[in-house]
Amino acid sequence: MKGIILAGGKGSRLYPLTKVVSKHLLPIYDKPMIYYPLSVLLLASIRDILIISTEEDLPLYQRLLGDGSALGICLSYAVQARPRGLAEAFLVGESFIGDDGVCLILGDNVFYGHDLTRILEQAIANNTAGATILGYPVKCPSAFGVVEVDDRNRVCSIEEKPRHPKSNYAVPGLYFYDNDVVEIAKGIRPSDRGELEITSINQVYLDQKRLKVVLLSRGIAWLDTGSPEGMLKASEYVETVQARQGFYISCVEEIAWRRGFIDGAQLHRIGEELRMTEYGQYILSLRR
Ligand code: G1P
Repeated sequence: MKGIILAGGKGSRLYPLTKVVSKHLLPIYDKPMIYYPLSVLLLASIRDILIISTEEDLPLYQRLLGDGSALGICLSYAVQARPRGLAEAFLVGESFIGDDGVCLILGDNVFYGHDLTRILEQAIANNTAGATILGYPVKCPSAFGVVEVDDRNRVCSIEEKPRHPKSNYAVPGLYFYDNDVVEIAKGIRPSDRGELEITSINQVYLDQKRLKVVLLSRGIAWLDTGSPEGMLKASEYVETVQARQGFYISCVEEIAWRRGFIDGAQLHRIGEELRMTEYGQYILSLRR
C-alpha cells in the first residue's frame, strides 16, 4: 500500500500565521506539523509516500525531508496547483498510485495513543477491497465528516459537515482505499463549497456497500490543529506526554529505526547532526 500526505491549501483559516509559511510546517511543540502524519504512515509500515503541496511550498518540504533515504523510505513530491479539495489527491497522485491501494492522510492530522500501530495494521490487512475510514467520538461533529453506524458497526450514512449530525462520530483525515479510488475520484463533482470532497468518494464506496469503518476508542487522541487554539492545545499535549514519560511522540527517526528501516549507525548520524537540541539528545539516547 502506498501513502499520500496532503499538505496543500492556503491555510487561510490561520492567517496571518500562514501568510508566508505553509500550515503543515508550523510547529506542534517541537517538530513541524507534517512529522505527525508522516509518523502515522511509518507506523503503518508504509514506506512509499507522496507529499502533495502547492508549487510555492513544495521546495520547503523537499528541503525538510529530502528523498526520504535518511529515514529508509521513498518520498516523492507533487504539486496541487489550486486547492480544489481533498479528493484531488488521487488525481494528482494517479501515476504515483499506479496499481496499488493507497492510504491518504491529511498533513494537519495528529494521532497518538494506545494500540495505534495495531489498529493501522489491521485496517490495512482488512482492506484488500473497498475503503476503510475511521470514526472518532467528538463533542461537536458538525465541523467534520460524520459517519453513522448501526448496532453492528456497519456504515449507514456519511455526511460532510452536517448541520444536524446523525452521530457524534467524526471522520478523521486518515483513509484507506483500494485502487478503484482513482477512477472514483475522476467521476465526482465539486460540492456546494466548490471542492472535490473526500466524503463524496466515501459515499460512492458506501453506495457500492464497500465502505468499512473502524471506530477509535477513547484511548486514542486525534487532535485538532485547525485553529491557533487547537495548535496550542496539541502542542501542550505533546509536551505533557513527552516530559512525563520521556518517550517522544512522532519522532520519525525513532520509528524508522524501531521498524528496521534504518540501522543504529544511521540513527546515530542523525542524532549527531541534531545533538545541540533536546530532540537530537533523545535520538542519541535511544541506543544507549
Ligand atoms: C476535512 C474533510 C472532513 C474531515 C476532516 C478531518 O475537512 O472534509 O470530512 O472530517 O478533514 O480533518 P476540512 O479540513 O476540509 O474542514
